[in-house]
Amino acid sequence: MKYTAIDSKLYSHNRERFVKKMKSNSIAIFHAHPTLPENGDAIYREKSNSDVIWLSCIVQEKTMVVLYPDNLDKKYREVLVILRPNPTLEIWHGHKLTREEATAISGMQTVIYLDQLDAMLQAWIHHAEFVYLDTNENDRMDTELPRIDLLYVHQLMKRYPLHKYERAALIMKELRAIKTKYEIAVMQEAVDITHKATLRVCRFIKPGVFEHEIEAEITHEFLRNRATRHAYGCIIASGDNARILHYVENNQECKNGDLVLMDFGAEYGNYCADLTRTIPVNGKFSKRQKEIYDACLAVHMHAKKILKPGKTWLEITESAEVEMNKQLLKIGLLSKEDIKNETPDNRACRKYFYHGLGHHLGIDVHDIGTRNTPIKEGMVFTIEPGIYVEKEKIGVRIENNYWVTKTGCQDLFKGIPITTEEIEKAMKK
Ligand code: GLY
Ligand code: MN
Repeated sequence: MKYTAIDSKLYSHNRERFVKKMKSNSIAIFHAHPTLPENGDAIYREKSNSDVIWLSCIVQEKTMVVLYPDNLDKKYREVLVILRPNPTLEIWHGHKLTREEATAISGMQTVIYLDQLDAMLQAWIHHAEFVYLDTNENDRMDTELPRIDLLYVHQLMKRYPLHKYERAALIMKELRAIKTKYEIAVMQEAVDITHKATLRVCRFIKPGVFEHEIEAEITHEFLRNRATRHAYGCIIASGDNARILHYVENNQECKNGDLVLMDFGAEYGNYCADLTRTIPVNGKFSKRQKEIYDACLAVHMHAKKILKPGKTWLEITESAEVEMNKQLLKIGLLSKEDIKNETPDNRACRKYFYHGLGHHLGIDVHDIGTRNTPIKEGMVFTIEPGIYVEKEKIGVRIENNYWVTKTGCQDLFKGIPITTEEIEKAMKK
């Protein structure tokens, strides 16, 4: 890993939080993916399982975490399971964790090898009444590929058919959504690196640069600051490309007079930042660009103002859409008639603002958590309204990351240029 060591307290605290939610005499088993094939013999070097990382900080493939707080043998109340290092394979694929290293990272004192697990697990499961198994319950998850998490569930249920099974994901959804102060300290690093990269590209961008050159500047700033990688596919969309929400080709020249929408974030210590800035290629917003930008910023600021414990994310979204209607009316994109004819399910502004207001942010960029239960202190959300106008070939999105406090929210990107004046000033430097 490129990041500096993280205090294992973050993870022991997370395990304590999970254990408190378990039923008595229950065992919870978390299970990370093997390496995923990309193409030929290439593999993806991705996070193997976000829940395993949240519990242990171990990113290595096939790692397992077993929590059995009522285990009569104290030594096995929390167990980390890792691959047995193989010196021959390590020559090819690099170092695998030793048990001592795994303990130092996770704070878990008992570490066994995967090939030892089966025999031990049998005794534990026979004593336990409930078994918590973990599946990917991210609302937005969508894949046609066979799922390793489901495969493991089927295997275990077949082997122990008379146990009572529980969903670990239900607890995870609740706990992972609330970020502890330890997690925020790591997330802040991801945000700060992203902040630095933003200032760097503000100075770099001018007419004639290519989108991929901007991506390269960002990547350089990320890696030299110990980010692991981009938290998601970096979007550098100049001119009309900005209307494509997940544009990642990044291969066009940035033209004088256009805006460039940049949506990027560093992954540091396994946590993500997620920022969007839309800036003028030549360093100066035109009158119309400023009008659209300011309308989008007004909606962003409105959402920020009302983000606090108590309301649900869906209520915040609804209020932001009403504000967006007002702003679009003001800049001539909607008429009073359009607004009068809208339905609650399809607000007039959806023609120009055709995505969600934001999402939970954490180990995953679209982190788990619910949108229809009251927001709680400690949650982290992105706020990212956008205005996309086909006939003007323009797209604007403005995104920051907010940590919900007792009475409001704290901007993790505090101090980053966000108004048109601040952006123009940063581009002059
Ligand atoms: N940053 C990309 C997204 O939120 O979808
Ligand atoms: Mn986002």
